[in-house]
Amino acid sequence: MADTIETLLKETRTFKPPADFKRRAAVRSAAIYRQASNGRLRFWASQARELEWMKRWHKVLDWKPPHAKWFVGGKLNASVNCLDRHVRTAKRNQVALLWEGEPGDRRAITYWELYREVNRFANVLKGLGVKKRDRVAIYLPMIPEAVVAMLACARIGAPHSVVFGGFSAESLKDRINDAQVRVLITADYGHRRGRRVELKQNADDAVAGCPSIEHVVVVQRDRVDTKEASAVAMKPGRDHWYHDLMREAKPSCKPAVMDAEDMLFILYTSGTTGKPKGIVHTTGGYLTQALATTRLVFDLRDDDVFWCTADVGWVTGHSYIVYGPLAAGVTCVMYEGTPDWPDKDRFWDIVERYGVTVFYTAPTAIRTFMKWGAEYPKQHDLSTLRLLGTVGEPINPEAWMWYHRHIGRRKCPIVDTWWQTETGGIMITPLPGVTTTKPGSATVPFPGIDATLLDDDGNEIKTGGGFLAITSPWPGMLRTIYGDDKRYRDTYWSKWPDIYFPGDGAKRDEDGYLWILGRVDDVLNVAGHRIGSMEVESALVDHPAVAEAAVVGKPHELKGQALSAFVILRSGYAFSDGLANELKQHVAKKIGAIARPDDIIFSADLPKTRSGKIMRRLLKDIASGRALGDVTTLADPNVVATLKKKYEGTE
Ligand code: PRX
Repeated sequence: MADTIETLLKETRTFKPPADFKRRAAVRSAAIYRQASNGRLRFWASQARELEWMKRWHKVLDWKPPHAKWFVGGKLNASVNCLDRHVRTAKRNQVALLWEGEPGDRRAITYWELYREVNRFANVLKGLGVKKRDRVAIYLPMIPEAVVAMLACARIGAPHSVVFGGFSAESLKDRINDAQVRVLITADYGHRRGRRVELKQNADDAVAGCPSIEHVVVVQRDRVDTKEASAVAMKPGRDHWYHDLMREAKPSCKPAVMDAEDMLFILYTSGTTGKPKGIVHTTGGYLTQALATTRLVFDLRDDDVFWCTADVGWVTGHSYIVYGPLAAGVTCVMYEGTPDWPDKDRFWDIVERYGVTVFYTAPTAIRTFMKWGAEYPKQHDLSTLRLLGTVGEPINPEAWMWYHRHIGRRKCPIVDTWWQTETGGIMITPLPGVTTTKPGSATVPFPGIDATLLDDDGNEIKTGGGFLAITSPWPGMLRTIYGDDKRYRDTYWSKWPDIYFPGDGAKRDEDGYLWILGRVDDVLNVAGHRIGSMEVESALVDHPAVAEAAVVGKPHELKGQALSAFVILRSGYAFSDGLANELKQHVAKKIGAIARPDDIIFSADLPKTRSGKIMRRLLKDIASGRALGDVTTLADPNVVATLKKKYEGTE
């Protein structure tokens, strides 16, 4: 990423909010920042009042570092906020989800219809014995039933754990076992790039190793009339068709009264060890931040059509497909497939057809669109778009400018939003009617968020580079790591006392703008997806040919980072292209295709410091071609050892 960072820091262009955007914007004045900093808790309380509470809280924040309780004593239900309160108004017949499947099938689901489906499915879950606090896993394609399942869990107070449909059977198994899940909701299959993704097969392989699972509910993706058409095996007593259960279920289910601090969901994300972390989010604070940021960052109103292109398997899908936009009562687009199916204009076709007004995607997608060329968006009328957003990784100024020109037609503000699975909602971002933007900068903290830069000793850095730090608790913050509070303390709260360490490096310029530079730990960001180097290393050493492995990131034009794996073979194995491919495949099978290394570099040893630490900087330099040139065809495994000398003492 070195080249990108260099260009990032030389960027001087600025973009004021366009006058006509500002005139209609929800927030037009910077006074909101002053108000929030003069009374942080008052600001968040006023945001929480935008929700419907069954009982008002008696204390906004109870902070016993590193544990926060927000809206203490408050009671509410997330599904009531996303559904019931809308169906009591004229919104009842407004479309909640404009869904499109990859093969081109479409469904428009109103708030009323979604409400009925969620109620029914909540009763289905109850019928399967799911009670408040029982965990439910959701392993589905991007179909409306994923939203129904999440909200139905919320309705009865059962925390959901959504597992991205691209994860392998083994990843699903580990996540189910970690949270001791009782019910799994999956589909027979999904559609991706014209092929079937065999979710039920994966689910079966996973559940074979999950003693806690009692029931598996299977959605029929193509809603065909005959069960045989799905051609998946159903295990009697354990597996049930979604449509069979729904047919019998009553359409009304009383919402559970949830404490503000009751768990809403667990979402697994990668860390610096081999084991993913179950990030725990609770109800009142999370929903407050999801709604506040949806309203103020995306400036959403009743007539907007909002499209967040993330998958519900990631936090972006949780907060900005489901909880934020539905609590705000807007119409959301949801799309199942890839941007290049059947052709490279699919996204722009969708924008045009539904008249999308606010569009939120990842830099890796923008770089891919850039490579495909401006002729694809040009084929479509994108004039309904009025605001654009990005998330997930640093955006290089060139991609920002392309997005501005070719998608935003130089008219739309761009909000570059920095946040994490752990933060629950957006933390650093422009407000589109207020903030002057700079290509590549996430700009300034959201009102009510205390984010700054610190050095190793906790001294504040006014201008220059440092570690990003969040110095006060915020409503959407994770509450712990499921089943491992020690890891929670160690990972996030041990670098500085009572200050949250997100693991990112950043720079602050003379105007106080933050430029996020990327992770400073061993977490990698491939195409906006978080992957732990140790997770991939464990997958590699699980292969019989591998004695030892080290995985590092190298800059990649489209994906931001790609994975390079250095591998020492066990005796009896010889390096070959065939084995390299086998190892890549092995990782994809163990974790999921997103973790497949681009390169496998066979090595006679791994360069280590005298204290035994792997010299990652050397490996990164080799992987990115800085030390050796192209390494994909590295022939001499001893070369790493010879290079090591040069680097000794530099780590
Ligand atoms: O490194 C930061 C990067 O993504 C990480 C969080 O990943 P995840 O938990 O999967 O959540 C992604 C979606 C919220 C961060 O630690 N990141 C996220 N947004 C940005 C970013 N880096 C730079 N700019 C952003 N806007």
